[in-house]
Amino acid sequence: MARPPNEGLHVGLIMDGNGRWAQARGLPRTEGHGRGADAVRRAVEAAPALGITTLTLYAFSADNWRRPADEVAVLMGLLESFLVRERENCRRRGVRLGLIGRRDRLSPALVRETEAAELATRDGTRLYLRLAVDYSGRSAILGAAAGFRPDERRDERGFLRHVNRACHSDPETPPVDLIIRTSGEQRLSDFLLFESAYAELVFVDTLWPDFGGEDLRRAVEAFRRRERRYGGLSASSGNPSAESATAGCPPGQRV
Ligand code: FPP
Repeated sequence: MARPPNEGLHVGLIMDGNGRWAQARGLPRTEGHGRGADAVRRAVEAAPALGITTLTLYAFSADNWRRPADEVAVLMGLLESFLVRERENCRRRGVRLGLIGRRDRLSPALVRETEAAELATRDGTRLYLRLAVDYSGRSAILGAAAGFRPDERRDERGFLRHVNRACHSDPETPPVDLIIRTSGEQRLSDFLLFESAYAELVFVDTLWPDFGGEDLRRAVEAFRRRERRYGGLSASSGNPSAESATAGCPPGQRV
């Protein structure tokens, strides 16, 4: 699914390295998560000026429930206080907040704060900030397949809407253009699996609590230097149809 070149970017962030950041300083792992929440605020602040209109942050995967109960409790507490503290700030700055992932395993208080934040910020158009919580890309795909009616047209765009609905996102959320993972690890860990078909991947060594606006700018700059061919040929190859990633192909059938 190619995107018009002048549309804003959808960036996904796998915020990794909080535990290592803390351990390197002789601090408990949970301290790293606290500092990670500060880095979240920096990234959100920097994003709109970099042309990012959708930012999806991997805050808690469906597999993170396997962590010790006290670490899970700290993470859930940080999420709740982020939603409470940042709600008004986001509303004022035109940031629309949303949680993607399962909600039935979250505490009633966290669900309440999520809904309040989504309602208060629903008119924001500058940035759509999606926090992926109890999120699994494979579950979103399974949910989308289950939601598909037999009489529905089967195309990528329609399926993407179902993937979005299955994880409580705005159905019109576009595929992800760029996924950044911090801390030197190089894998997707069940993040935005359907949406990342043609995403560019940028891996940085910085641990998440040290990540700032300048790191985000550098990653977006690296992305902009890449040539996105969507399976076609380079525009410099002399192929007249290479200008458009969708050339010669019926909508929804690009591979
Ligand atoms: C991965 O680092 C990080 C997480 C599982 C949680 C991410 C959470 C935050 C950044 C803070 C809360 C978020 C918001 C939106 C307020 P890790 O713990 O696996 O690090 P390690 O690989 O070094 O152990």
